Amino acid sequence: SEATITVLPGDGVGPEVSAQAVKALRAVEKRYGHTFTLHEGLVGLDAIAAEGSAISDATFETCAQSDAILFGAVGALPAAEHRADGPRPEQALFRLRKEFGFFANLRPVRPAEALYEASSLKPECLKGADMVFVRELSAGLYYGHMETVPGKPSEIRQRGGRTEAVDTLLYTEEEIERVVRVAFDIAAGRRARVTSVDKANVLSSSVLWRQVVDRVAADHPGVTHEHMLVDACAMRLIRTPAEFDVIVTENLFGDILTDEASMLTGSIGMLPSASLGVRRTAGGRFGLYEPVHGSAPDIAGQDAANPVGAVLSAALLLRHSLGLEREAAAVEEAVEDVMRDGYRVPDLHDEGCTVVGTEEFGRLIVHRLEAR
Ligand code: NAI
Ligand code: MG
Repeated sequence: SEATITVLPGDGVGPEVSAQAVKALRAVEKRYGHTFTLHEGLVGLDAIAAEGSAISDATFETCAQSDAILFGAVGALPAAEHRADGPRPEQALFRLRKEFGFFANLRPVRPAEALYEASSLKPECLKGADMVFVRELSAGLYYGHMETVPGKPSEIRQRGGRTEAVDTLLYTEEEIERVVRVAFDIAAGRRARVTSVDKANVLSSSVLWRQVVDRVAADHPGVTHEHMLVDACAMRLIRTPAEFDVIVTENLFGDILTDEASMLTGSIGMLPSASLGVRRTAGGRFGLYEPVHGSAPDIAGQDAANPVGAVLSAALLLRHSLGLEREAAAVEEAVEDVMRDGYRVPDLHDEGCTVVGTEEFGRLIVHRLEAR
C-alpha cells in the first residue's frame, strides 16, 4: 500500500531515536513492498530559531496532508527549568493535539522477557504481562468547560472570606463513547478482554462511563468486559499484571495508571505511544506516534538513547493509521529478537549483555527485520 508520513524529530534525543524508527519503516517498506512517502518537518527549538514558532503553519499543513505523524520529542531543558515567557518548544505538541483533536492515547505495556530482571517486579509476576492502555485525552478534569459550568471551571478564588480552589470533571456521552469504541475495537484484535476503570462509587462521570461501556459492549459480543475501581486497578497492576488485556479509562486515571504500569518494563526508553484523532485514514485513523520519554537533554548527542520506544511507536503507526498488522508485529518481534540476542543500550545495561549505541541498536533491528 501507499502512505504519507510526516516525521517531526524535534529536540535532544528526538532526532537520534526518530532516525532508528525511520530506518525500521524503510526496512518494512522494502521487505513488504509498500511505498511510504516521508516528509520531515521542524518542531521545537529549531523551528523557533528558524521560523519563530514551535511549529509553523506550513509544517502543520504537511501533517494535515499525511496519514500519520512520527514524532520524536521537544524541549531543551529539564521540564522544571523552562521560562514561561516567549515561544516554548512544547507548544508544538499542544497545537497538534488541539487542532487534530486527539482523543485516544494508546500506551502498550509489554515487558520483554529478556528484560524481566530489569523490572522492579519479580519475573514470575511479569510472565505473560501484555496490556494496552486506552486513555481518554481530550476531556475530563484537565479541561475547562466554560459554556456548561457557571463561573470559571478551574481556578483559585476568594469566596465567603476564604480561599478555595475548584476543578471541574465533565464528560459528555459522546466523548466517552468514541474512546470506549476504540478500546473494544483494539480488544477484538487481541485477547478480546476490556477492563474499564472508573470510580463509580463516588463520581457521576464514572456512573455515566459505566453505562456507556455496557452499551458499547453489547455491540461486541465476542469481547468480554469488566468494570474495576481505579484504586483496585492500581493494586492489581502490580500484583497480577498478566490478567489485563485492554484497559480503558478517563484522562486523570489514565495519566496516573500508565506511569505506574510503565515501570513494569524497566526503562522509560522502552515505551511507545499513539494519539488517535477523529479523521479516518485508508487503514485506520490519523494519529501521532511518539515515544513516552522526552528530549532527555542529559544524554543527548551521546548515541546513548534507547530507540525502542520510538521504533515501537513506528509499529503502532503501521497498525493503527496504515492498517498493516503483520508489519507492525514484525517490527515488535524484531525488537524482541535483538533484546533476546543480548544487546542493550546503556540505560538497560545488564551483566553478560553487549552494550551498543542508539545507531547500532537501530541497525540490529533492521537486520532482524530483513531476516524475517
Ligand atoms: P525525559 O523523559 O526527557 O528524561 C527523563 C530521564 O529519562 C532522563 O534521565 C533521561 O536521560 C532518561 N531518558 C529519557 N528518554 C530516554 C531514552 N530514550 N533512553 C534512555 N534514557 C532516557 O524527561 P525530562 O528530563 O523531565 O524532560 C526533558 C525535556 O523533555 C523537557 O524539556 C520536557 O519538557 C520535555 N518532554 C517532552 C515530551 C514530549 O516531547 N512528548 C514528554 C516529556 C518531556
Ligand atoms: Mg504523565
